[in-house]
Amino acid sequence: MVNETVHKELLKKYRAHFGRDPEVVAYAPGRIEVLGNHTDYNEGFVFSAAINFGTFFAASKCETTGCHLVAGDLMKEVSFDLQHIEASKTDTWQNYVKGTLAGLAGVKAPSCGFDGMFFGNIPLGSGLSSSAALEMCAGLALGQLYGISVDTVTLAKIGQKAEHDYAGCNCGLLDQISSLAGQAGKLVKTDFRSVAFETAELGADACFLMCNTHAKHALVDGAYNKLRASCEQAAAHFAKVLRHPVKALRDVSMAEWAIYKRDLPEAVANRAAHPIGEDERVLKGAELLAKGDLPGFGALMFDSHESSRVLFENSCEELDAVVDAAKKIPGVLGARLSGGGFGGSVVVLVHPRDAETASIALANAYAAKFGKPCDVSVIKPAAGARVLK
Ligand code: GLA
Repeated sequence: MVNETVHKELLKKYRAHFGRDPEVVAYAPGRIEVLGNHTDYNEGFVFSAAINFGTFFAASKCETTGCHLVAGDLMKEVSFDLQHIEASKTDTWQNYVKGTLAGLAGVKAPSCGFDGMFFGNIPLGSGLSSSAALEMCAGLALGQLYGISVDTVTLAKIGQKAEHDYAGCNCGLLDQISSLAGQAGKLVKTDFRSVAFETAELGADACFLMCNTHAKHALVDGAYNKLRASCEQAAAHFAKVLRHPVKALRDVSMAEWAIYKRDLPEAVANRAAHPIGEDERVLKGAELLAKGDLPGFGALMFDSHESSRVLFENSCEELDAVVDAAKKIPGVLGARLSGGGFGGSVVVLVHPRDAETASIALANAYAAKFGKPCDVSVIKPAAGARVLK
């Protein structure tokens, strides 16, 4: 289910701005990361879900090679030529679309420019991957407009490259794959070595709350890239000392880590322990979910957050406060930070009958500590990105 109010608003804004209806419209949802933090670029496993918040992209062909792109929330337009798709230091939102267009153009050169507009309801900087949603809806819409067809993994990689080359964040593939592969009521479990994904039923006894702390989300400030570099440094060390091939931290077990971490700087060893432990938790979580053991799955989410807080150090005071409050609220099964870290949102697993009382209790607990409530929304795992017109 797309949000029809947001969809209609986009069409209205598009008509008012460009004086015509768009030829194509595509939609892509944001995502929550449920278990498996910073495992994607370590070639490990993640449970995630596409969510019921997303972004729409409307576009029509132009007669020239001029491209006109409007951010529908700001009603701000930027223009550039198809022959010069360069990252901008101002109005950086355009870079996600430009990077995606550049990726599509690498598959087949578009014949003309476009009039495009995007608009959605994913809170920015909340850790729900508004940027990947923008890349994926732009990719689907422009792909459809120009007749450039790419498969799911290729489109996800185009979005990832846009993040690397145009936005400066060396992210993995999680956000793009989740936005594309989501299914209503289901979690997506992805193996980021083969980039093979499958869905797992969540069941009617569970839903998620997203608690947006509005704390700063610092991914492109370099913190994310530094964590990734530490993981790669650790993987290179384990590749030297273990007697089996190690391509990424996915190939190292917790038992091996404990024995062979000694020559690593302590901080780097701790960073490595997080994705290694997360992989084990995702695999354990898959078994528990298959048995319908939601409390067991939720306990792994709490462990995941603790590992972020202590070992990976990608949590912050605000996220910790939400998780601590969640532990004391009846009906809450699990809670952890979702995504890169350093702010953004906490994802909370709760029985649907407890969702409302838990939301109020979380907002109140946060307000008591920080003087203002966090925003709590009920998240339903939703269908993935698609072309609507
Ligand atoms: C961000 C990145 C993803 C992933 C998560 C952490 O969302 O974009 O690739 O690494 O952080 O799991």
